[in-house]
Amino acid sequence: MLVVKDLSKSFSSASGDVTALNKVNLTVQTGEFASIIGKSGSGKSTLLSMLGALDIPTSGSIEVDGVDIAKLSAGKQTAYRAKKIGFVFQHYNLIPNLTALENVMLALEFGGVPVKKRKARAEQLLTDVGLEPDEQLRKPPRLSGGQQQRVSIARALANHPAIVLADEPTGNLDSETGKKIFDLLHRLSRSEKTTILAVTHDMDIAGKTDRTFKLKDGKIIA
Ligand SMILES: Nc1ncnc2c1ncn2[C@@H]1O[C@H](COP(=O)(O)OP(=O)(O)O)[C@@H](O)[C@H]1O
Ligand SMILES: [Mg+2]
Repeated sequence: MLVVKDLSKSFSSASGDVTALNKVNLTVQTGEFASIIGKSGSGKSTLLSMLGALDIPTSGSIEVDGVDIAKLSAGKQTAYRAKKIGFVFQHYNLIPNLTALENVMLALEFGGVPVKKRKARAEQLLTDVGLEPDEQLRKPPRLSGGQQQRVSIARALANHPAIVLADEPTGNLDSETGKKIFDLLHRLSRSEKTTILAVTHDMDIAGKTDRTFKLKDGKIIA
């Protein structure tokens, strides 16, 4: 279970402080698929980066299965990210000169999977997200946007994360492909009991998730 209490984050800049998150409270059950909506600048990416321990909150707590990740040492936060979190980004963030298979195998290497097991597991993950064997051997520039996002989902799931954080995963895709990607995430959250938080602008898509949080000016308003 993920419990966020009174989470705030401010950034200092030359023109003064910006409050990106203002006392956010939310709870997401294990295995739930939640969407986050809100206008640009409402704090969605900041929230995901706090949940993924990519940045430190100004105040408040983030409990993941009873542990406040905001209070972990830097080393433990890194371990938390590697073991518990899978990230999916709008721009896929794949390594362009590695094949789809090698991208996923690299994530398995970071996760400490023995070298002999990496290839078979990477092939299985890519097959699960719908990539054909010949596509698995292509480098990202030779895959469509939808295919690249499937690879990045396979990579995010490589080490059985408890939580997948997806920041506008369909922002670069046409709406039909975007729906397929969300269907895939939905299916995976069910079969792997993975908790998923995904930012989206598509209200059709948000309406199909278990729960939707709406952010406005750093506050949850619905
Ligand atoms: N590293 C940063 N430094 C300064 N301001 C930031 C930083 N990151 C985000 N912000 C500000 O925080 C607010 C929320 O940003 P963000 O979380 O990226 O919103 P969203 O993802 O909903 O578009 C915005 O006003 C943004 O300009
Ligand atoms: Mg954003």
